[in-house]
Amino acid sequence: MRSILIANPKGGSGKSTLSTHLAAWFAWQEETVMLGDIDSQQSSRHWLSLRPLESPQILGWDLDEDQKARPPKGTGIAVLDSPAGLHGKRLKQALMRVDHVVIPVLPSAFDMWASAAFFEELAEVKAIRREEISVAVVGMRVNPRTQSAQQLTDFLKQYDLPLLTCIRETQLYVQSIQRGLTLFDLPASRTKQDRIQWQPLLDWLVSNKRQQRHAI
Ligand SMILES: Nc1ncnc2c1ncn2[C@@H]1O[C@H](COP(=O)(O)OP(=O)(O)OP(=O)(O)O)[C@@H](O)[C@H]1O
Ligand SMILES: [Mg+2]
Repeated sequence: MRSILIANPKGGSGKSTLSTHLAAWFAWQEETVMLGDIDSQQSSRHWLSLRPLESPQILGWDLDEDQKARPPKGTGIAVLDSPAGLHGKRLKQALMRVDHVVIPVLPSAFDMWASAAFFEELAEVKAIRREEISVAVVGMRVNPRTQSAQQLTDFLKQYDLPLLTCIRETQLYVQSIQRGLTLFDLPASRTKQDRIQWQPLLDWLVSNKRQQRHAI
């Protein structure tokens, strides 16, 4: 079993979009996927309630904020969506049972500044320093070859964190989410360009498999 925490204390950075897409991709790989939501907005939970029955199944995982993030037995992959403002004790609790942290960052100054404090907080976490938890960044709503894409790349050079990929801005995300779907549930012919953008993140998660911390 592996757990992936999607986190960035900055609101609207793309956590729920990333969480739902990862859950759907792993479900398409025939993994038993749990999608947990420690966000009181329950965006991922709501999305899951809209998911068509014929789509690959993703199980909901009830978490209350003070609980340790321990998914039920039999889970292959647990994806944990988190709220804006996650830090301190609640962040530490969420990190207790995860193997990977994926941080979505928008290419804007406000978002980068807010993320910097978060990166610094993560760098102090023992399990991260010992590389028991792997951490990576994904640029969200970044159109490649723009100045802002370059600014994001330059900003991340100060930190020891890989920028795995950049996900472009497209209404396909907005439209599919409101139907309980993701781009991975749409025909491959409509989403070819976008699937290519996700691939480095998926490869990173798959190749980090052996680093899993917890066997259930
Ligand atoms: N690549 C994209 N292209 C277009 N719109 C996007 C993209 N990614 C996210 N969005 C939109 O941006 C908004 C914020 O995304 P999302 O809800 O995933 O962020 P969040 O970090 O979960 O927010 P919160 O902090 O409020 O939980 C949503 O309306 C979402 O549909
Ligand atoms: Mg959210």
